[in-house]
Amino acid sequence: MNVRRVLVTGTAGFIGFHLAQLLLDEGFVVHGYDGMTAYYDARLKQDRVALLAARPGFSSTEAMLEDNAALQAAANQFAPDVIVHLAAQAGVRYSIENPRAYIDSNVVGTFNVMEAARRLKADGVLAHLLIASTSSVYGGNTEMPFAETDKADLPLTIYAATKKAGEAMTHAYAHLWDLPTTLFRFFTVYGPWGRPDMAPFLFTDAIAHGRPIDLFNNGAMVRDFTFVTDLVRAIRLLIDVPPVRPASASDIAEGDSLSPVAPWRVVNIGNAERVQLTDFITAIEDALGVKAARNLLPMQPGDVAATWADTHLLQRLTGYKPETGYREGARRFVAWYREYYGA
Ligand SMILES: NC(=O)c1ccc[n+]([C@@H]2O[C@H](COP(=O)([O-])OP(=O)(O)OC[C@H]3O[C@@H](n4cnc5c(N)ncnc54)[C@H](O)[C@@H]3O)[C@@H](O)[C@H]2O)c1
Repeated sequence: MNVRRVLVTGTAGFIGFHLAQLLLDEGFVVHGYDGMTAYYDARLKQDRVALLAARPGFSSTEAMLEDNAALQAAANQFAPDVIVHLAAQAGVRYSIENPRAYIDSNVVGTFNVMEAARRLKADGVLAHLLIASTSSVYGGNTEMPFAETDKADLPLTIYAATKKAGEAMTHAYAHLWDLPTTLFRFFTVYGPWGRPDMAPFLFTDAIAHGRPIDLFNNGAMVRDFTFVTDLVRAIRLLIDVPPVRPASASDIAEGDSLSPVAPWRVVNIGNAERVQLTDFITAIEDALGVKAARNLLPMQPGDVAATWADTHLLQRLTGYKPETGYREGARRFVAWYREYYGA
């Protein structure tokens, strides 16, 4: 597959920014689409966009996904070979406060992206649609590590439910319109330019400013932390592996999530490493050279105590396994934080 033109939604965001940088490094032409939502610090988004805008091969549209006319116009004009849809209302905790933002961005917005993809596929332009889902769709599953072929039908939050809806909606379009579609289930992504609402950032910011850190579930949490450059490498490799509708269910390899009736699959992108949250905090403390004061708090509603990715499918499809360990990743995140915030 000789892909040159990629439409990436969410390029002002953490992962979209890193993916666009990688694709530009590799000579792709990239069009970014982002509504610059007010969910977190506007300066961070503006600075990411400014870095991208300075690069040859990058153009962008600032508009919301829900603005269907703007989205279809941008897609028509750019005529991408591939769409990587990352824009979304993210965040588990905020979905309890403001669930409607998730319906608007993740259900209506994702549907509009699917419509653009369907038309471009029919015109013989688009070869592959790739969309971000989340490890949160595993909900209350306790069987570890989480595998794509496990049942994941019991979301605990509206965030997870809207992402699961995206998986279901895209399956229908993949089936109806023969639209090759790959869903990614990301596991706690962190790294330079990271999201201010997520634990690695919140901890670093609090410790750097001498504030105590909040430890939910008394800190008894396990996460599969995925370093962002590894994650976008995996996405880039998956671009070249569009699912093909199998002739029959018996053609599907053991452990492959490929649909028996559509060119559609879901792929975990994680580090396949179970890290105790307290060990991650120690790594941040070591990188900052400061010890944290800790507020021990109960479990938050909608949160899960542990996540852990089975990444065999990713490895089988791409030959790649994310491998940045959490201590190295924390060190690189803290180095960026200090430089960017002068802390
Ligand atoms: N970071 C993680 O750990 C993680 C984990 C699992 C899944 N994900 C998913 O990965 C994707 C990227 O996440 P991220 O961490 O980069 O988040 P982010 O919030 O940094 O980026 C999302 C971007 O989308 C834009 N956006 C949001 N709603 C929009 C809308 N309705 N219209 C247009 N633009 C809109 C925002 O302005 C933002 O720049 C999301 O789909 C998220 O759900 C992230």
